[in-house]
Amino acid sequence: MRTHYCGQVNAELAEQQVTLCGWVNKRRDLGGLIFIDLRDREGLIQVVFDPDQKALFEQAEKLRQEFCVQITGTVNRRPDSQVNANMKTGEVELLASELNILSRSEPLPIDFNSQVSEEARLRYRYLDLRRPQMNEKLQFRAKVTSAVRRFLDDNGFLDIETPMLTRATPEGARDYLVPSRTHKGRFFALPQSPQLFKQLLMMSGFDRYYQIVKCFRDEDLRADRQPEFTQIDIETSFMTAEQVMEVTENMTRELFDKLLGIELGEFPSMTWHEAMKRYGSDKPDLRNPLELVDVADLLKDVEFKVFSGPANDEKGRVAVIRLPGQAESVSRKMIDEYTNFVGIYGAKGLAWIKVNDLAQGRDGLQSPILKFLPDDALNAILERTGAATGDILFFGSDKANTVAEAMGALRLKLGEEFGLVSDEWKPLWVVDFPMFEEDDDGSLAALHHPFTAPVNVTPDELRANPAQALSNAYDMVLNGVEVGGGSTRIFENEMQQAVFEVLGIGKEEAQEKFGFLLEALKYGTPPHAGLAFGLDRLVMLMVGASSIRDVIAFPKTTTAACVLTDAPGLANSDALNELGVKSTVEDTE
Ligand code: AMO
Ligand code: AMP
Repeated sequence: MRTHYCGQVNAELAEQQVTLCGWVNKRRDLGGLIFIDLRDREGLIQVVFDPDQKALFEQAEKLRQEFCVQITGTVNRRPDSQVNANMKTGEVELLASELNILSRSEPLPIDFNSQVSEEARLRYRYLDLRRPQMNEKLQFRAKVTSAVRRFLDDNGFLDIETPMLTRATPEGARDYLVPSRTHKGRFFALPQSPQLFKQLLMMSGFDRYYQIVKCFRDEDLRADRQPEFTQIDIETSFMTAEQVMEVTENMTRELFDKLLGIELGEFPSMTWHEAMKRYGSDKPDLRNPLELVDVADLLKDVEFKVFSGPANDEKGRVAVIRLPGQAESVSRKMIDEYTNFVGIYGAKGLAWIKVNDLAQGRDGLQSPILKFLPDDALNAILERTGAATGDILFFGSDKANTVAEAMGALRLKLGEEFGLVSDEWKPLWVVDFPMFEEDDDGSLAALHHPFTAPVNVTPDELRANPAQALSNAYDMVLNGVEVGGGSTRIFENEMQQAVFEVLGIGKEEAQEKFGFLLEALKYGTPPHAGLAFGLDRLVMLMVGASSIRDVIAFPKTTTAACVLTDAPGLANSDALNELGVKSTVEDTE
């Protein structure tokens, strides 16, 4: 129906006849002429209707915004004075000779020129996606997946699909369950990841696997979390952690280089322990120069219980953030706001010291807690934090987890507010994670998933001292976003059983849930390792979006609903009967 895309018409086509299809982006009537901007996925072009062509002109007068049309005409160079440098096709315009209205549009239900709520945009997502800025993001995403496939194909990875209707694969979220009609009372779980299947594929000898695949997790949603999202899922046999990191780092570097012309360089590595210590986060944003400085050892003997309590508790922590040069600009009101902010993360307060004049010693300091701190502690804190005149210090004192979370978040907030975040790209690997983390009730949970291999321990050693064990896991972090995570896997039945035991998964439960894996581990399992990228997060970063919803064609809202199709919907009672499912919720609709 067309000879060219609107956005591709240029001066080389001058004097030629072309036929274009697209949407009326804008119509203007000027000096007896009608101008429209015609839009398709490649861009816009200006089309002119001349009143001398009477029938055609009358047709054009009927055009309204978002009519879908086919137009034939001649490409004309614009006079120099009318060239529009902001438009890809700004050197030319189309003088129309034929107009075919393919499809009319009612006035749009939303006006994209004014503030539109995200809810409205999602309800009319097909219209939202017509907007060039949205359309371009999804086109870019397609380029990323295509480049990923090319890279992995070239490196010997095989694209193999795994089931969507399956058993639970624990990745730390709730499962989406699907009732079975043929096995009443039983449920499939949608995969939280293809983790177990990709391990089984290694046992089958496929050696290198990948899949660009949907994963489903019923968890609290945030800007970088969706209930269904896409992984670039990778698994390899006979490769070490370092080799997996090398190949996936190469892939990331190549994507940035080829698609954005950005040279990421070699990714540094940092242990989980160091990341938590210096940044209070396992996904540190290294563009932000602020750091947490530990001072508990200096405060063990002070009378101020807020500090000495955690300082003398082995699970406690006291850490300082030094914000350089802002003592004067940080008001009491701002300190109150920061105190409320860290409160969201469970901090019970936010002590602070302003260094108004370092040379004056105690007299040059300003703080409600000065009176509680003896000179030696005060001086040692100033020295260790590198405090200088004009700085303000913020203190977090609590359980180590709370301090890391609260001060880690404050670090990011201060970095943003005071414009300290550089505009470089800062990738890194976080390595040497603990195998397990302690839940509030004292039970242990896997920090990654329960199939991650521990470093250098026997099953008995692991059972005896699980809290000390490190895992052979690695996360790829880019600008403070965890874009990928992986590990070498347990490939021995006994070690897998030991991990289940430590996690409090009894023999029977392990057999019931993971019997197939434990069985498979008995038949010559190769050592294997892999990683999964969050594709949505990667694309979000690459296009500079602030939410993964912007790079997903049809995302869910923050309450995990699809407002476009009004899903999830009610099921009628016949369907439920057939599935052997009864709802305990009163039908309110
Ligand atoms: P993990 O759970 O770390 O590992 O997931 C891998 C990557 O997927 C992305 N991601 C998400 N993106 C959007 N919304 C979500 N709800 C969401 N959850 C995770 C993140 C994360 O780094 N099977 C293992 C991988 C492996 O060990 O090979 C796994 O799924 O970017
Ligand atoms: P208070 O003794 O509660 O009046 O607190 C004195 C100062 O210590 C105030 O500035 C509080 O914000 C701060 N503070 C209280 N609890 C903590 C804590 N857990 N961590 C850091 N500062 C705190």
